[in-house]
Amino acid sequence: MQPPARRLRRERWRPGHFGKAPQSGMLRLPSPSMRKNTMERLAILGALHEEIADLLAAMDPGAAVHRIAMRDFHVGTLWGTPCVIALSRIGKVAAAATASIVIREFQVSRVIFTGLAGGLHPDVEVGDVVVAHSLMQHDMDARPLFGQHEIPLLGRVRFESDAELSKRLLDSAGDFVRGRAIEGAARAQARVHGGLIATGDVFVSHAEEALALRARLPDALCVEMEGAAMAQVCYESGIPFAVLRVISDRADHAAKTDFTAFLENVARVYTAGILAPLLKARAL
Ligand code: ADE
Repeated sequence: MQPPARRLRRERWRPGHFGKAPQSGMLRLPSPSMRKNTMERLAILGALHEEIADLLAAMDPGAAVHRIAMRDFHVGTLWGTPCVIALSRIGKVAAAATASIVIREFQVSRVIFTGLAGGLHPDVEVGDVVVAHSLMQHDMDARPLFGQHEIPLLGRVRFESDAELSKRLLDSAGDFVRGRAIEGAARAQARVHGGLIATGDVFVSHAEEALALRARLPDALCVEMEGAAMAQVCYESGIPFAVLRVISDRADHAAKTDFTAFLENVARVYTAGILAPLLKARAL
């Protein structure tokens, strides 16, 4: 006679809800105490090597590298703060996969995504810094089943970043850009903006595309390819997050050239220059 099939009771995960202590046969979820003990690690993610290179170089000796799902996760301390730093690679799937891994495998308590973006808003120029107040996926469109840009079955269009983390990044970015002239930039002095970031699996490199995005999302400051995907994963897991972007191009015909030059010469300096004072002050 066949033994009766074992019934697994699945608990629904809700942000901030940890359920009852798992019993045998139940799907295992992290208990509050288990999460509390591991609350201290910060994840810093970037899509390209240059965007995180100076951070990796600055990690304190003794960092360990864990290879998971074709990615290297550098675990150690950065200017005294316990961190895991990883290269996500480009695009929404890559960012979502990487965010899931740092949350599940390394139990991080907060995630910062850093890198470059194309300026969309007329006030946002090459050399400026944008810190996300919220993020959305500009290429999500499941109409007529759901509203335009709505994440199906989640009932959300925008994901709000953590207010405290974002404010600290904004302030540090302000200190960093003050008095800093960017070669080839439209203005003598770079600016720092806080607001909406639009994410999609598209490198926007035609003025018409950028104009269409601007018309559809007039409050979007810049466009990039990872932030809102990471934000969705963090939101679903109840993990605070922030996104820091340096404007490398204006998402037009010159985007490829501007992006490449910026990536090689400026990206790493900005990221480390903005994060270092905060990490040294244990403010992230
Ligand atoms: N990241 C930097 N520049 C970008 C652009 N023009 N489009 C999408 N992502 C970007």
